Amino acid sequence: MVESHTRRVLVLNGPNLNLLGTREPGVYGSATLADIQAMVEKRAAELGLSVIFRQSNHEGQLIDWLHEARETCTGVIFNPGAYTHTSVALYDAIKAIALPVIEVHLSNPHAREPFRHRSFVSPVAKGVIQGFGPLGYILALEAAAQF
Ligand code: DQA
Repeated sequence: MVESHTRRVLVLNGPNLNLLGTREPGVYGSATLADIQAMVEKRAAELGLSVIFRQSNHEGQLIDWLHEARETCTGVIFNPGAYTHTSVALYDAIKAIALPVIEVHLSNPHAREPFRHRSFVSPVAKGVIQGFGPLGYILALEAAAQF
């Protein structure tokens, strides 16, 4: 287990988020994932948090990293991308690791297509931040600094 004074947060990003900056900028804005990583690392340092920032397009890889976080992290900030709306496996993984997970979305999925209105992650998340673009990651860090 991680000692209580060591707040280490896994910031996990799911499929297609590697394309931020060029991917549907009208929906997701112009910041790249590297820009978001830089913002997150800067604010984390100010808050005294250590962060591990990762992205994968593969569901199994995301699950492996969640399992790893069980041993190494105190919380997770997770933008699961489209797996949000499809993945029972992510639901199970989050339940299994028993870590606080903050679900983040750049866009507001509830203001979009009906298939985005259902999240398999929200019922097992500590909280959800959506619709604020990259700022959502910073708001999630502020929350993660509290537990
Ligand atoms: C997203 C919203 C999802 O519906 C979508 O599939 C994404 C990105 C967001 O950050 O707004 O890939 O998670």
